[in-house]
Amino acid sequence: MCGIVGYIGWQEAAPLLLKGLKRLEYRGYDSAGIALLNGTLSVMKQKGSVSGLETASEAFREEMQGATVGIGHTRWATHGEPSDRNAHPHLNSAGDIAVIHNGIVENYSSLKQELLSQGYLFSSDTDSEVLVHLIDRIWKSEPSLDLESVIRSALRHVEGAYGLCVISSREPDKIVVARKGSPLVIGIGIGEFFIASDAAPIVEHTNKVVYLSDGELAVVTKDGYSVKTIENIEQEKMVTELDFSLDKIEKGGFEHFMLKEIFEQPSVMHDVMRGRVRIEEGRVCLGGIEDYLDRLKHAKRIVICACGTSWHAALIGEYLIEEFARIPVEVDYASEFRYRNPIVDVDDVVIVISQSGETADTLAALRTAKEKGALVMGICNVVGSTIARETLCGMYTHAGPEVGVASTKAFTAQVIMLYMLALALSKGRTISQDEIALHLKELSNIPEKVSRTLEQDSQIKSIAERFKDARNFLYLGRGYNFPVALEGALKLKEISYIHAEGYPAAEMKHGPIALIDEDMPVIFIATRDSTYTKILSNIEEVRSRKGRVIAIASEGDQEIARLAEHVIYVPQSSGPITPLLTVIPLQLLAYHIATLRGCNVDRPRNLAKSVTVE
Ligand code: G6P
Repeated sequence: MCGIVGYIGWQEAAPLLLKGLKRLEYRGYDSAGIALLNGTLSVMKQKGSVSGLETASEAFREEMQGATVGIGHTRWATHGEPSDRNAHPHLNSAGDIAVIHNGIVENYSSLKQELLSQGYLFSSDTDSEVLVHLIDRIWKSEPSLDLESVIRSALRHVEGAYGLCVISSREPDKIVVARKGSPLVIGIGIGEFFIASDAAPIVEHTNKVVYLSDGELAVVTKDGYSVKTIENIEQEKMVTELDFSLDKIEKGGFEHFMLKEIFEQPSVMHDVMRGRVRIEEGRVCLGGIEDYLDRLKHAKRIVICACGTSWHAALIGEYLIEEFARIPVEVDYASEFRYRNPIVDVDDVVIVISQSGETADTLAALRTAKEKGALVMGICNVVGSTIARETLCGMYTHAGPEVGVASTKAFTAQVIMLYMLALALSKGRTISQDEIALHLKELSNIPEKVSRTLEQDSQIKSIAERFKDARNFLYLGRGYNFPVALEGALKLKEISYIHAEGYPAAEMKHGPIALIDEDMPVIFIATRDSTYTKILSNIEEVRSRKGRVIAIASEGDQEIARLAEHVIYVPQSSGPITPLLTVIPLQLLAYHIATLRGCNVDRPRNLAKSVTVE
């Protein structure tokens, strides 16, 4: 949520900042801006995309030329509408301090009143602008302080979350950054340093990075960096090597990142399982949790907390762990868990799932669970993310960077991780080694089955053409396919802005059936499993009310072809594994409907990839 970049070194900063911002646009894209230090401070900012800013910047060639220090921001609005004046960076009235900020200053209103009463004028409606005036006020009252100390002192007045980047023409050889709640990474080059909200804009320049932790402040010059806590205690930081390359964050010939990521799923699935699935030994090897496996197996209860698509993966995880390992599982929205004083104790295990590893609510749920003494385990995609670092143990999904705002490959990677976890928790307790081997064999065949499912892309596109103008959609599934129904509906909502609801198929009778008429497309996920005959009855119920039935069914099922207007077949598989197949046509259907409606699927309106505010 909001992207931050910074550069200090020997190259022209402006093109680097603009390119970096483009890589971060999935974090927010309603306005963008940069500030450059070139003797004085110059700021360019405007509503709209980074490309728009880039075009506008051509008129500022002179100011940009020769500037080797700068910061940039791409915004996801919280306080104040998307507009030129609300875009970051924000300047003090003298125009010698520039601030960009990701997060929310929760006490901004009282700070603003205070600053207004002292004569400060505000030129935006944002919470972030108070930061620059606060810094200005402290510096005026103690002019002998350096920028770093002024910022440290300002932050003592700030409640809320921040990833903060500040430059000033009064100390033009540095960038000061600070973090509480919103991620920041420093990329280490030779005679140059990069700052960003995540590693995406950094990887093409260097693979050496330092992740700031909450409560840390860093001063970055072209010769080095120093990290201290806000309380001024020096910190030793570990340098981490990034393990992904540039091609992973480029479109590679696909029209959109989302489509690329949908089609990447077979190879991602191989990556997720690589080294972990040991069919001959009838076991899975999950290095990140090995030391805690015993405690996990003897958990009184497992609570899984997540948001959005990760929450849907969690629901599938609940079914898998309960079915295989027979440990009671509860799934909670992270945002609800943290605010309802949950009953959690030392015998519980709390699993947090997050693609980004930065979702504010999931992070808060993790911290709540930790405070209550539970063992907290993480399943994250982004290596080195805050959630990954704050959990006691965990597993990376290794899906590679996911750029499209609507999650696709991260979802299937999470489901595979949960499948492997469920098997690891069952070993030696609830299912035999031979049975585990059979499951693993089926799991290892999944990438090929997903590839076959993807081959139906053009058929799915033609279905999308027929239904692209529908105003509502209903997605129905049972058992393992109920969370898939939720995920299918979410995908459609997120990127096409069509209202869609997912329901357990049997629940349809208790309300949604009232919505069904000849204009309502109803997507049934009706693979051949234990609920198959029941779901056929549900299809009949929709048909008799003239609903338009689209079915996702198992290959070879002729019966369903009689009932549904359209059928998309997926290869045969056992119930627990079906979500990995049935979700694929739903991702493609949402993608095609959205593109046919002219929507920007990679950057859907109002959404952000990484939600670092509550
Ligand atoms: C945002 C994204 C979703 C994502 C959710 C949870 O809403 O747009 O795609 O599922 O956050 O994100 P996480 O990174 O925690 O999985």
